[in-house]
Amino acid sequence: MNNIAVIGGGTMGNGIAHVFAQNGYQVALIDVKPEIIEKALATIGKNLDRQVAKGTLTEDQKASTLANIKTHTSIANGVEHADLVIEAATENLEIKLNIFKQLDSLTHPGCILASNTSSISITKIGSVTSRPDKVIGMHFMNPVPVMKLVEIIGGYKTSAETLASITELSKAIGKVPAATKDYPGFISNRVLIPMINEAILSLEEGVAGVSEIDTIMKLGMAHPMGPLQLADFIGLDVCLAILHVLHDGFKNPKYAPSNLLVNMVTAGDLGVKSGRGFYDYSHGTKDLVVSPNFSL
Ligand code: NAI
Repeated sequence: MNNIAVIGGGTMGNGIAHVFAQNGYQVALIDVKPEIIEKALATIGKNLDRQVAKGTLTEDQKASTLANIKTHTSIANGVEHADLVIEAATENLEIKLNIFKQLDSLTHPGCILASNTSSISITKIGSVTSRPDKVIGMHFMNPVPVMKLVEIIGGYKTSAETLASITELSKAIGKVPAATKDYPGFISNRVLIPMINEAILSLEEGVAGVSEIDTIMKLGMAHPMGPLQLADFIGLDVCLAILHVLHDGFKNPKYAPSNLLVNMVTAGDLGVKSGRGFYDYSHGTKDLVVSPNFSL
């Protein structure tokens, strides 16, 4: 496996392209928006500079990483030689199904088609292709160059060969693979997001304040950040969307989103990206200031 195509050059796509290129793979990075491609290359350059400054990468390695990345603004160019395509486009079922239908006809029959989706069924994605045995979930974590985990999701028809090949490849790029079956939320979000929802419910019920909840989970459970701060980083709209996937998928009321979360998303307090969530980010993300909505 030598040629990798990455669909989507946003938050995740640029990181995935970076990691493969740094490990000597030829990467085609594809996004429909030229400005996103430009931004992705700038981000990769900046992150490589940081590695050089830290002494973990040489200038030569930086240059060869950048030389390994070619960019395109249409799926029609760039995937024809791919041995593996990793789709990291917008989390929207219709967009993803459309991309996979196109990939099925544009790539050679042996090409593996992977999705970085956080919540969409791999079985459903595979079902719109003529090769569901070669469709798999490759769920990287953000930021991709730093985070070690790749959650590997086997759909109902994903073959053992495809699973083995993607497991080996993940190790070859320095990641640690962990396999799951194709159930709503896989493992990462099935465990994480209900914990976040429970933290929000506790806040809503007045059991404790924002700082107290985060301090208890940070210092008591050795989590690098508390669940409310983490929710702000993930995006409260994203947390809500994943809860809907769990609730709809399992039909179990324990996954019902808290009313407070629904209200915050409706009001536009989405966390870091909107400037306010459980904390206020009008002065950046370094100092944690509880949002005026929750300060006593
Ligand atoms: P993003 O919004 O930053 O990037 C998505 C990119 O896809 C955009 O640049 C958009 O122009 C592009 N795109 C949309 N349709 C396209 C098409 N037909 N062809 C080519 N490009 C297209 O989104 P982000 O955060 O990078 O998420 C991408 C995927 O990764 C989603 O499935 C998301 O659930 C998943 N994910 C996100 C994580 C995160 O922390 N942001 C973590 C793990 C997975």
